[in-house]
Amino acid sequence: MKGIILAGGSGTRLYPITQAISKQVMPIYDKPMIYYPLSVLMMAGIKDIMVITTKEDQPNFIKLLKDGSQFGINIEYKIQPSPDGLAQAFILGEEFIGNDPCAMVLGDNIYFGNNFKNMLVNAKEYAENGKASIFGYQVRDPQRFGIMEIDENQNVLSVEEKPQNPKSDYAITGLYFYPKGVSEMAKQVKPSKRGELEITTLNDMYLKNGNLRAELLGGGFTWFDTGTIDSMMEANSMIRLVQTNNGKIISCPEAIAYNQGWIDKDTLLEAATLMQKNDYGKYLFKVAEKNKSLKLEK
Ligand code: TTP
Repeated sequence: MKGIILAGGSGTRLYPITQAISKQVMPIYDKPMIYYPLSVLMMAGIKDIMVITTKEDQPNFIKLLKDGSQFGINIEYKIQPSPDGLAQAFILGEEFIGNDPCAMVLGDNIYFGNNFKNMLVNAKEYAENGKASIFGYQVRDPQRFGIMEIDENQNVLSVEEKPQNPKSDYAITGLYFYPKGVSEMAKQVKPSKRGELEITTLNDMYLKNGNLRAELLGGGFTWFDTGTIDSMMEANSMIRLVQTNNGKIISCPEAIAYNQGWIDKDTLLEAATLMQKNDYGKYLFKVAEKNKSLKLEK
């Protein structure tokens, strides 16, 4: 199974900040935004990951994430010459994906909640058996999102991009799992009126073939699309609050890697030493001691 983090885009909603820096390397509380989607793929058990960015921003991502070996994974990089839509990722990643199933997560999406790891592992298994998965989250303003209509058994009935009259308030969040052959499917997507290769069109193809299923991120789950300054600020506060209360670091790639057995103790301690002056580093020392439930020192 392969994984893609789509971290290009133009970030115009965050201008003037994003005129000089990609939003996905900006902080959400104590770590770069892209650590959150990276952790999602790692929690799903995916070790081969491609990071797609703009040409200008690519050097920053390489500086930050390197070849991934510090997290026990392999990271490749690819440039998206212009932001022509989410489904384009599977065309740009065709060679990387090969004949494997592939998950994609958007570089500005943050997930946090109960049972998430099980959902991810489930979606991965479905993808390996020919079915695509999308993840729904109830929102107040469904006109702004891709929307899924579902029946009482969670079967997907329709998917629509930013509908004027939404059939439900379940937004399709920025995380998708597809079976092998997704690049071929993506090549059949025709550009929309706004000129983009829409992920909703791709999802509709899987739906029409009877191969689309949904997971619902229910009560107590938090999902952020941190594309605006207010949503970034909300996410900052939320992550700070949860981490301070329960003493764990949310979306910590080093800890995930260690707990999955992808890095050894020395590699973890190297990262911990680098960050020993802050709570992130202190948490890594705790993880290395295998006292996973210990709280951070206040
Ligand atoms: P958006 O938030 O829809 O777009 P954007 O980042 O360009 O921002 P703005 O609307 O403020 O101009 O993108 C969602 C995520 O997908 C974000 O992480 C950027 C990424 N993306 C790409 O990498 N390539 C693309 O072609 C598009 C449309 C988005």
